[in-house]
Amino acid sequence: MKNFEVYKLWPLEPVKGLGAKLWDKDGREYLDMYGGHAVISIGHSHPAYVKSVGEQLGNLGFYSNSVVNSLQNKLALLLGEVSGYTDYSLFLCNSGAEANENAIKLASFQTGKSRVLAFKGAFHGRTSGAVAATDNPSIRSPFNRTSKVTFIQLNDIQLAEKELSKGDYAAVIIEGIQGVAGIILPDDKFMVELRRLCDKHKVLLILDEVQSGYGRTGKFFAHQHARIKPDMVTTAKGMGNGFPIGGVLISPKIGAVAGMLGTTFGGNHLACAAAIAVLEVIAEEKLMKNATSVGDYIMESLEGSRSIEQIRGRGLMIGIVLKEGFEKIKERLLFQKSVFTGSAGKNVIRLLPPLGITVEDADQFIKAFRELESEIQ
Ligand SMILES: Cc1ncc(COP(=O)(O)O)c(C=O)c1O
Repeated sequence: MKNFEVYKLWPLEPVKGLGAKLWDKDGREYLDMYGGHAVISIGHSHPAYVKSVGEQLGNLGFYSNSVVNSLQNKLALLLGEVSGYTDYSLFLCNSGAEANENAIKLASFQTGKSRVLAFKGAFHGRTSGAVAATDNPSIRSPFNRTSKVTFIQLNDIQLAEKELSKGDYAAVIIEGIQGVAGIILPDDKFMVELRRLCDKHKVLLILDEVQSGYGRTGKFFAHQHARIKPDMVTTAKGMGNGFPIGGVLISPKIGAVAGMLGTTFGGNHLACAAAIAVLEVIAEEKLMKNATSVGDYIMESLEGSRSIEQIRGRGLMIGIVLKEGFEKIKERLLFQKSVFTGSAGKNVIRLLPPLGITVEDADQFIKAFRELESEIQ
């Protein structure tokens, strides 16, 4: 048997990581400005994380959700405190797509309606409901195609009002910052108005913070910059620093009852041990503050560069839009300068590094970027 091909592979294999550094099997060192796609929040092999998961594995790796698991309670309490959502409840699952799938399902249970409003450029995952709300027809099979999801332009509040006033929507789903689309920010004012419209038309607002959450933008969730409170917030990626875990934060105003949602692996002992360590480290090491200051430093340092059309983002969720002719910088960063970055489309570099990167790490990236830029006439 061979493995199913998921993505196009770069011809290299990291075998060790520490903080924001990676090493391949030949011992070559890399700077990780990608975080394995926004997953590595507290840094590779953080000692507190290794200890927490290792000790839990030595005690009990898994038991079913039909018995008491006080790690789940500890995680919910801690997440409530760190995020500010102390009165919400937490449904634990295993991935971002699953979190969105369950949030959409709950919204439909709650409202008795079935339509979903989503946004152009949105990415919410690959499972049935999540992929139906993802603006990419090429990854939707005939089974996943549905007329129940409508996509409108981000930041167009008139269009949102026109749709929601039709009265048949269960939910609006929106990313805190669009990641896959290339780091596209919803306006704070738009978010406030969207919240108001959802209340007016009795539609539930789901904030997909799978990529933009967990401190990445300098606040725990990106939507908190707009000072709104969604009805549900979905999380994954940075939540387990690599251990698969996702969650739905559910407002107390939603009448979710036992039996509506279920899972075998969600909230298992190892996942909880990983997620608890992540939250403790985020708080102890003040990683949100670091994300703001190092993120601002990178954006200010690169602003106005010859090769850059636009640089946008918040904290350590940054999109660098390259001018025509400079697209090769991305690949050269990896192969010439040993710096991992993400991308979106042909010309956007996405930075999603561990939240604890230092100014020295940032300088290493900036220097590499500038050197590659100067090679291109
Ligand atoms: C905003 C957003 N939502 C959902 C997902 C899906 O998460 P997962 O791959 O864990 O299912 C992603 C993954 O990239 C994402 O960026």
